[in-house]
Amino acid sequence: MFKIVNSPIKIGNQIIRNRTVSSPVSINKANENGEVTDNIISFFSNLSKNNLGMVTIGAVSVSEEGTDTKNGMRIGEDRYLEGLKNLASEIKKYGAKSSIQLFHVGAQGNSHLSNKRVVGPSKYIVPDIGIEAQVLTIDEIKKIEDEFVKGIIQANEAGFDFIEIHMAHGYLLHEFLSPHMNKREDEYGGSENNRLRIVKNIIGKINKIKKLNNLAARLTADDFHEDGLNLKKINNLIKYLDENNFCYYSVTAGIYETAKQKYIHMKEGTYWEYSGELKKMTKTPVIAQGNITSLREGEDILLKKQGDMFGMAQSLIADPEIVSKSLNGKEDQVYNCLAHVKVGSCHRCRYVKREDHNFDCVTPSAWRPIDSVKTERKKDLDFWKQTIETLRIQEENKFKNSGRK
Ligand SMILES: Cc1cc2nc3c(=O)[nH]c(=O)nc-3n(C[C@H](O)[C@H](O)[C@H](O)COP(=O)(O)O)c2cc1C
Ligand code: SF4
Repeated sequence: MFKIVNSPIKIGNQIIRNRTVSSPVSINKANENGEVTDNIISFFSNLSKNNLGMVTIGAVSVSEEGTDTKNGMRIGEDRYLEGLKNLASEIKKYGAKSSIQLFHVGAQGNSHLSNKRVVGPSKYIVPDIGIEAQVLTIDEIKKIEDEFVKGIIQANEAGFDFIEIHMAHGYLLHEFLSPHMNKREDEYGGSENNRLRIVKNIIGKINKIKKLNNLAARLTADDFHEDGLNLKKINNLIKYLDENNFCYYSVTAGIYETAKQKYIHMKEGTYWEYSGELKKMTKTPVIAQGNITSLREGEDILLKKQGDMFGMAQSLIADPEIVSKSLNGKEDQVYNCLAHVKVGSCHRCRYVKREDHNFDCVTPSAWRPIDSVKTERKKDLDFWKQTIETLRIQEENKFKNSGRK
C-alpha cells in the first residue's frame, strides 16, 4: 500500500523522501514585526516530525503593504534572517524538505486586518471587503519587484530548499497577469507581454544576481471568471517559468471574488484534473492539491498521473499525524477535517473569518500553540467518527434534495 506515495522523488537538486506535501498555509502567528516566533517553528517542524516529504510555509510577504493581517510573516529585511534560518533548519532537522511561499496580498488586502494601504495594478474592489485598491505607480511597481528579489535572495540564504512564488488566488502577481484585475494602459497592462512584465522583471533581476534552481510557483488553473485566467491562458507563463528552471508547480484555482465556485469545484475533485492537465503541458514536476482527504486518494492521484506529489492543508491541520499514521498502518486512527465532509461546516482554522483572527482547529488531534491554555478536548475517536458520519449524511441529503445527479 502507498507504494508511490512512499517513494522518493527528485525535485530540483533535492531528493524528497516521499510524495507528500503540506500545502502552503499561513497561521497568523508572527510577531507584530512579521518575525518568526516559537509557535511558527513548532507548527511547521511538527509536520516534518510526522513524515511529510515537503513542508511549505504559506504567504510570507515581501513588502510592508503586502501582508494580509497584522501577524503575517515578512521577509527581505536583515531582521528577518535569523528567525527564517531557525525555521528552515528546524524543518529540515526532521527529514522534510522546506519550502517558503513569497507573496504580496495586492488588491485583496484589507486595511481593517492589516492596518496597511490596499494597492493593486488597477482600481478594484473585492465585493466582500469593499475597499478600493489604490493604483500602483511605475516607481512603486519597480520597488515591489526589488522587494520580491530581496525576499527570494534572503529565503535562499536562510537555507530553504524551495522558494515558491505565489502567482495565484488573486494576489498581486496574479492581479498583474489577469486581464480581469489588470486594466492598466502602460507597459504593465494590456497585451499579454505587458501583463507578464512584473514576473519577468523579478526573474530577470534574480538571474543577474544569482542563477537559482530552487524557484517554484503557485499557479492558477481557473479563476472562474470569463476575463480571468485558466491553464490555456497561462501557457506562455508556464513556458517562461520552464525556461527559467522552475523546479515545481503547485496548482490551485479561484480568487476571493469567486470563492464559492472554488469550493464547489474543489469538492468535486476538479483540482486534480487541473494538475493532470498541467502535467501534459510541462516536464516540470506538478503538485496536485485541493480537498485531498487521505493518502489513499493521494496514491490514486499519483497512479493516474494527475500529479508528481500531492499537497494537503486542512487534512494536516485537522491531524498533523495523517502521514505517519497512514504509512504505519493506522489510517483508521486519523481525525478527519469537518469541512472536507460538509463544505462550510467549519471555518475555525480560517482565521481571517474569525473576530479574534486566531488560527485554531476543532479536532482533538490538532496542533495547539505552545503558549495556549490547553483545555482538554474529547479524544474519543469514535465520537469524532460519529460527528463526521452525521455531517456526511446531512451533505448526502442536501445533494439528493437539490435534485442533482
Ligand atoms: C488556514 C489556511 C491558510 C491558508 N494559507 C494559504 C497560503 O498562505 N497560501 C496559499 O497558497 N494557500 C493557502 N491556503 C490554501 C491551502 O493551501 C489549500 O489550497 C486549500 O486549503 C485547499 O486544500 P485542502 O483541501 O487540502 O485544505 C490556506 C488554507 C487554510 C485553511
Ligand atoms: S478547523 Fe475545521 S475546517 Fe479547519 S482543519 Fe480543523 S476541522 Fe477542518
